[in-house]
Amino acid sequence: MATERTLSIIKPDATKRNLTGKINAKFEDAGLRIVAQKRIQLTEAQAGKFYEVHAERPFYGELCEFMASGPVVVQVLEGEGAIAKNREVMGATNPADAAAGTIRAEFAESVGENSVHGSDAPETAAVEIAYFFSGLELVG
Ligand code: CMP
Repeated sequence: MATERTLSIIKPDATKRNLTGKINAKFEDAGLRIVAQKRIQLTEAQAGKFYEVHAERPFYGELCEFMASGPVVVQVLEGEGAIAKNREVMGATNPADAAAGTIRAEFAESVGENSVHGSDAPETAAVEIAYFFSGLELVG
């Protein structure tokens, strides 16, 4: 399997509860390398642009408001099959469906406030990484 990079976001529900270190430990324990990371405060407009693909969904407004409700940690994770591996470590979108030991099973509060985001495919990973990071910020 090829080495990949994926975009990860530690969401406001998790940064508020001081869970950044515990979540990063899950990534690193799974063999994912954090090759870029920064803590930022998104505006609703910036969150809206990031989640543009969901613009028609009924939860879009709530999602943008939540993502701008506190700091997020945006990061690039690298490793063998990093996109699928990260999704495995995160667990299902709805914490009620997430497998035991996954980030969302342990930490997520609800389907909306679900602690982490991860890219779902190589094409989206490339677009999402470029939304937050320049090439110079990716230090493998
Ligand atoms: P994420 O993986 O970041 O991708 C889109 C996000 O939309 C998802 O995680 C959830 O945070 C949010 N989301 C998905 N479904 C719902 C829902 N039914 N209600 C509220 N938010 C949702």
